[in-house]
Amino acid sequence: MNVGDSPFEGADITVSEITVSDLGHADIENILNYWFGSSSLELRAMIGFDPNKMPSRRLMREALALKTGQGSVAPTILTIRVRGVSVGVHELTHIEPRVSAIMHAHIWNTEHRGRGIGAVSYVRAMERFFEAHGFQRLIFDTPSTNLAANKVKQLWGISPCGRGTFVIPTMAEPIATTRYQVERAHLAGIVERVERLWKYKPLRKQG
Ligand SMILES: CC(C)(COP(=O)(O)OP(=O)(O)OC[C@H]1O[C@@H](n2cnc3c(N)ncnc32)[C@H](O)[C@@H]1OP(=O)(O)O)[C@@H](O)C(=O)NCCC(=O)NCCS
Repeated sequence: MNVGDSPFEGADITVSEITVSDLGHADIENILNYWFGSSSLELRAMIGFDPNKMPSRRLMREALALKTGQGSVAPTILTIRVRGVSVGVHELTHIEPRVSAIMHAHIWNTEHRGRGIGAVSYVRAMERFFEAHGFQRLIFDTPSTNLAANKVKQLWGISPCGRGTFVIPTMAEPIATTRYQVERAHLAGIVERVERLWKYKPLRKQG
């Protein structure tokens, strides 16, 4: 199936059809379209992103191309796929080797959001990042007004561990965040909990 095809044709999506895998060259243009395309105003509201502070499209393409060579060793970005079609990424920033990193999520198209993909992909990406990097914890500085991103963490049965602000060079200004932390020792319990939830809650096919 080609990138850009709708992964939602046919029968309802099952949890096992949502996977995370290494960034491929074919995913790069999708990422660039997300950051440089028509969604940039929406991204400003959701995650404080400032299009004027972005590196050029060419520079970003080159930086992403380097990440496609990470193989299975220690990926810092993973593509979210539904039935093999890439729909978004999970990415790490603020990496402290073998200690921690901040994890992010981006499902590129609005029509793919709110269908249960993030609920599955975050957990699969956490498993992979913990395994590959030997982290003690993963941190989520979630914009406090971002309902979906906060709800995903509540599904794990964890409480916020603090509030703060988050800023990186491509943001307009610091945004208020709610911080969640997943300790390595708690991952197995979270996976068990969400897998139990998924058994009883089919994914939504319609947006
Ligand atoms: C945040 C994001 C990754 C979540 O993934 P998603 O696939 O849209 O989320 P899901 O459909 O799995 O929903 C997870 C939970 O949030 C709830 N939810 C989803 N969208 C919601 C919304 N707009 N308002 C309130 N709750 C919402 C769902 O109902 C679900 O809870 P439930 O299982 O109890 O029903 C995705 O929406 C996204 O990429 N958004 C744009 C970028 C972004 O905001 N990134 C996060 C920055 S930290």
